[in-house]
Amino acid sequence: VEPADRPSITEAARRWVATGELGTGLNGQLRQAIGDFVANRYFGFAPRLRALHEYRRSLYGEERSIDDVVGLTPSGDASLDVIARTATNPEKGRLLFHLARNLAPCDALELGTSIGISAGYIALGLEAGGGGRLVTVDASEARTSLASRAWSVAGVSGIEQVVGRFDDVLEDVLGHLPDLKFAYVDGNHRKQPTLDYLGAIEKRMSTGLVVFDDIRWSEEMLEAWSEIMVSHPSSVDLGWIGLVLIER
Ligand SMILES: C[S@@+](CC[C@H](N)C(=O)[O-])C[C@H]1O[C@@H](n2cnc3c(N)ncnc32)[C@H](O)[C@@H]1O
Repeated sequence: VEPADRPSITEAARRWVATGELGTGLNGQLRQAIGDFVANRYFGFAPRLRALHEYRRSLYGEERSIDDVVGLTPSGDASLDVIARTATNPEKGRLLFHLARNLAPCDALELGTSIGISAGYIALGLEAGGGGRLVTVDASEARTSLASRAWSVAGVSGIEQVVGRFDDVLEDVLGHLPDLKFAYVDGNHRKQPTLDYLGAIEKRMSTGLVVFDDIRWSEEMLEAWSEIMVSHPSSVDLGWIGLVLIER
């Protein structure tokens, strides 16, 4: 999907909120979160959210490769400019903030740290919701070495970083998150890995939300998302983002 054709998360969220009653349980929490998102409520966190928006924007124009920026051996990775432009934008960031806020206090997991932007929004949401632990995983040493800059701009601390491949570390990480209620999957956008990550996470999550980014990024992602909608019919399609509700 070309950037100009990307469905707007806000429009999809507005439509979803308008179609149902504020229920109870997980569905009620989700409706509350998406209602807060479309109504632009910030609960006193607007300045810190804005600081994160502006930090990402400040990296535009840095054409050196990320390895050069952090002083590591060249790995062929992109420029910091490209990485910043593809990181979580303010619209998506605010959504993550509201989802995490309404599920907190809880343990949370992110697959795909990159330079820490999305983790910053999730950590702000956990703080606004009463606290929680966030573990974020990524295989890139160069990208993740910059993540603490974003977190310091947002004024969040205590995010636990794991540098490793998802397949190698996911089981172990999940074993250390007994109160997992929020998971954000934003890396390795292929069909089978996406389905496998959901399988591994839902085995360890009794109630909560698994959020998938880029569900229309490729044919493979759309196929994975179509299968998830069949196996998890209460899932919510927000155009670019998919929300899977796990309830037992
Ligand atoms: C789109 S970026 C994440 C962006 C970040 N969530 C944000 O919006 O700020 C995807 C990240 O996933 C990581 N990644 C992709 N496949 C991976 C894998 N199999 N194991 C570990 N990390 C992986 C990449 O290194 C990259 O930093």
